[in-house]
Amino acid sequence: MMPFLDRPLHHPKIVVKDTVQQLAQHVAGIFAEAITDNPSIVLGLATGQSPVGTYQELVDWHRRRGLDFSRVTSFNLDEYVGLAADHPQSFRYFMQQQLFDPTNIDPDRTHVPDGTHDDLSEHARQYERAIERAGGIDLQLLGIGTNGHIGFNEPGSPPESRTRVISLSEQTIAANAPYFPSIHQVPRRAITMGIGTILEARQIVMIALGSNKAAAVAEAVAGPVSPSCPASCLRTHANVTVVLDHEAAAGL
Ligand code: PGA
Repeated sequence: MMPFLDRPLHHPKIVVKDTVQQLAQHVAGIFAEAITDNPSIVLGLATGQSPVGTYQELVDWHRRRGLDFSRVTSFNLDEYVGLAADHPQSFRYFMQQQLFDPTNIDPDRTHVPDGTHDDLSEHARQYERAIERAGGIDLQLLGIGTNGHIGFNEPGSPPESRTRVISLSEQTIAANAPYFPSIHQVPRRAITMGIGTILEARQIVMIALGSNKAAAVAEAVAGPVSPSCPASCLRTHANVTVVLDHEAAAGL
């Protein structure tokens, strides 16, 4: 791939929706259409508050309109180091609850990094190889952190980075503290796809909701393309859609 700094820049497509439900319906529509067009699609999936409505809509598509996930393959962006699949705050647990258990996706085709693996560096390399063997990611869903992170690629992450273990920033730990009994129980490390891994997806859809994301969205879409705002690196990709509510779009 061309060195990062030499790559041409693109304008992401920006979609602003009036309500969280309309936003979720829009993003679910993109995914449902992609799955219908290519039932063996490889999806990149995200956790967090941003995609919850989208997953609800996709479950609805499955239940009411027979959207078939049986041949879909999925790779999640990230997982906390140290949390097992049955830990309620693990991203594997989130995915089982939100999307995998309520649809007919084949469990063997779902991939979430294993934060309890005893050799995380080797596991990260295996994760990259598994994505490659699957033919690469066709459609990647992303949220964005208040600090501009994508996956758990914190500010300063190299644009060419691959799946690896990363130390979470204090801002990210604080943002995730409400989901844990106390801030001291938030894991301090995670395993995440790299920015380079994400940029190899053929199509990317990023969701941002709420005024606390407005500054990061403005920086990502209109600021300098720089590792200090990892989401700005998406502007080197030719097929990115950013779907926002009015609050998250306020800085544009
Ligand atoms: P959120 O997280 O969807 O819970 O806001 C997004 C992120 O931190 O990437």
